[in-house]
Amino acid sequence: MKIYNTTLKNLDKASILIKKGGIVAFPTETVYGLGALASDSKSINRIYKIKKRPKNNPLIVHIHNIDLLNSIVECVPDFAYELMKNFWPGPLTLIFPYKNSGSVDTIARASLNTVAVRLPNNPIALKFLEKVNLPVVAPSANISQQLSPTKAIHVLNDLGSRLDPLRDMILDGGNCNLGIESTVIDLTSERPNILRLGGLSSFKINKTLKINININKKQKGKYKSPGMMKKHYAPKTEMRLNANKPLTGEVWLGFGAEKTNVKVKKENLSLKGNIEEAAVNLYSMLRKLDNYKAKKIAVAKIPNDGMGEAINDRLKKGATK
Ligand code: TXA
Ligand code: MG
Repeated sequence: MKIYNTTLKNLDKASILIKKGGIVAFPTETVYGLGALASDSKSINRIYKIKKRPKNNPLIVHIHNIDLLNSIVECVPDFAYELMKNFWPGPLTLIFPYKNSGSVDTIARASLNTVAVRLPNNPIALKFLEKVNLPVVAPSANISQQLSPTKAIHVLNDLGSRLDPLRDMILDGGNCNLGIESTVIDLTSERPNILRLGGLSSFKINKTLKINININKKQKGKYKSPGMMKKHYAPKTEMRLNANKPLTGEVWLGFGAEKTNVKVKKENLSLKGNIEEAAVNLYSMLRKLDNYKAKKIAVAKIPNDGMGEAINDRLKKGATK
């Protein structure tokens, strides 16, 4: 398996391959996605197999324009208009009631009567989606529960041996410039509910909607997003969070200026203490630290403002045993 740079010729090739049932890994502003045509049950089944993803976890549909949205959703709730106007294209996935005549395969929706849709803000993703001109489902391009990919080489390392070099393709769009997955909001219940914190902060959402949005509130006693529950976003090495300093046998993931002279193998999410920079670095630094096969990764306390809420959410889930 090789990585392709994103010339127009290669984007053409990728759009032809995906229409023939291939799988295309492509960059977005959040993380790399593993794309298949939303209507193609065969390649969608392959995606679940390649990622070792449980079938009860539905996929996000990626589109490049509103016509495609209208072809797959039953209606656009009021809150959705406001959110789309302000934050699309961008790191925001909205859950809509699904239109029965739509082309999104049942497996991709995990047999739900809803559908998750996102319009990404990355020029290569948009060019690719425009060339395909059909809804494309794309989960993050990693093995289920493990760290998401923010560089093409991560996709190659994780999935290269599981993809088919004749049918599939990995596009290299450089580093993802947000580095954390999209925020997922459910708009099919009475009140909007954040099912997954992500690249768009709850603060910005509240400011726009002039409400105090629910965060992963149970509906009828159940969590609505399967991806929210278990261990997820995890390095292979155990993590110890909110640490002051590394203990014997641990490697260190710092944030902001280091007070002590940490002498172990280490990375720093942002020496300047910039939370956006920390999000960009999070997965790639955890991957690097994972390679040392240390006893644990000790992680400094990360502030919870802005992107910090999503970073802390990922760290908490990644530290779940
Ligand atoms: O930033 C992103 O969202 C990336 C890029 C590639 O777009 N994609 C991504 O996909 O993170 P994935 O499959 O790793 O996560 C999709 C999340 C899961 O938590 C899933 O449970 C939720 O979206 N989801 C999808 N469809 C849903 C639905 N109909 N109802 C509730 N949750 C849904
Ligand atoms: Mg994922």
